[in-house]
Amino acid sequence: MDFQKYILPHIWNLKPYSSARDEFKGKEGVFLDANENPLGSGEIDAWNRYPDPMQWKIKEQLSEIKQCSVDQIFLGNGSDEAIDLLIRMTCDPVKDQIIICPPTYGMYEVSASINNINITCVNLTAEYQLNVEEICSHIHENSKLIFICSPNNPTGNKLNRDDIYAVLAKFNTGFVIVDEAYIDFSDEPSFISELSKYPNLIVMQTLSKAYGLASLRLGMAFANPTIIKLLNKIKPPYNIGGSTQALVEKALSNKEFLKTSVDTLNNAKKALISNLKEVAGIDHIYPSHANFILVKCQQVQALFDYLIEQKIITRNRSNVTLCENSIRITIGLPAENNLLLEKIKRFYA
Ligand SMILES: Cc1ncc(COP(=O)(O)O)c(C=O)c1O
Repeated sequence: MDFQKYILPHIWNLKPYSSARDEFKGKEGVFLDANENPLGSGEIDAWNRYPDPMQWKIKEQLSEIKQCSVDQIFLGNGSDEAIDLLIRMTCDPVKDQIIICPPTYGMYEVSASINNINITCVNLTAEYQLNVEEICSHIHENSKLIFICSPNNPTGNKLNRDDIYAVLAKFNTGFVIVDEAYIDFSDEPSFISELSKYPNLIVMQTLSKAYGLASLRLGMAFANPTIIKLLNKIKPPYNIGGSTQALVEKALSNKEFLKTSVDTLNNAKKALISNLKEVAGIDHIYPSHANFILVKCQQVQALFDYLIEQKIITRNRSNVTLCENSIRITIGLPAENNLLLEKIKRFYA
C-alpha cells in the first residue's frame, strides 16, 4: 500500500516538534534541558519532570497483551484524541468526507464537524448491521475514513465480521477504522490480528471501559507502523501525562482485574436482562456484547425523567436514528441494577 496517497501532503512532509525528552533518553543526569522545576511539586508526589513522550513502558506491556509489536501502537488522551488526529491526518477540510454508520458513537461526527469535514451517513440496517452495498456506493476519491464501531454504541451488538472484511476489501481511497471500545466484554476476536492482512485497517480500543480507567484518559490505535509514526508526529508532544502513565503501568500489570470486571459485569448484565424482560412496559432488549443495554420501552421520556427524579441516570437515545423509544442503560453494580429494576417496575405498576 502506498500510504503517502492517503495522507494529507502537509502532514506527510511535516517536520515534527522535537521535545527535550526525545533528544536525551537516559534516566541519570543533571537535567537542565526542559525548563522544569528541580524542586519537585510541593506537597504531592514529584511530577516536576516531563513524561516519556512515546510511553514506551505502556506500549511494551500492551504489545504482549494485544499480541502486536510496539511500533503498531499509538496512545492518545482517550480514543477521542485518536479519532481527531486520524481525521486531521487524512481529511482535507470542505473537500473530503468520512463515512459513518448511525446509530453509532457521536464523536466521529463531532470531530469531523470541528475539522469541517463532510460526513456521509449510511444507516445500519433494521438489524443494526452494516449496509455494505450502500456504504460501497458512497465511496469516491474524496472518501478518506470509514468508521465502524463493533460492538456498537449505542446498540450494543457486534457487527458481522464478514461485512467488515467486505468493506476493508472494497475501500481503496482511505482507511477503515474499527472502533473496539467494548471488545473486552465480547467473545469476538479483535481485528488487531488482521492488521498484517489489511494495511488500510486501523483498530481503536480504550482503557475507559473494561479496564475501569476512564478518568486516566488512555485510548489506543493499532495500525501499520507507517500510520503510527505519522500519528506520533502530529500528536502534542506530551499527550499522556506522567501520572496517567504510572497508574496505567500498574493497572496493566494486574491481570486479574480485567477478567473479574468482565465476568462480573457480563453476569450482572445477564441478570438485569432476564429481570427486565418480565416487566410490562419493556418492549424489547437488544442483544448486547458491551457493558450496556439498549432497551425499547413505553413512555420513554416519562420513564427517563422518573429515573432522574430517583437519582438514577440513564441515557435517553430516543432521538437517535433507529433508536426510537429506547434508553441506554450502563450495567452497574448488582445492587444498583436491582434498585433500577425496582424503580422501573414501580414506574410501570
Ligand atoms: C465506541 C466508543 N469509542 C470511543 C469512546 C471514547 O473512549 P475514550 O474514553 O477512550 O475517549 C467511547 C466512549 O464512550 C465509545 O463509546
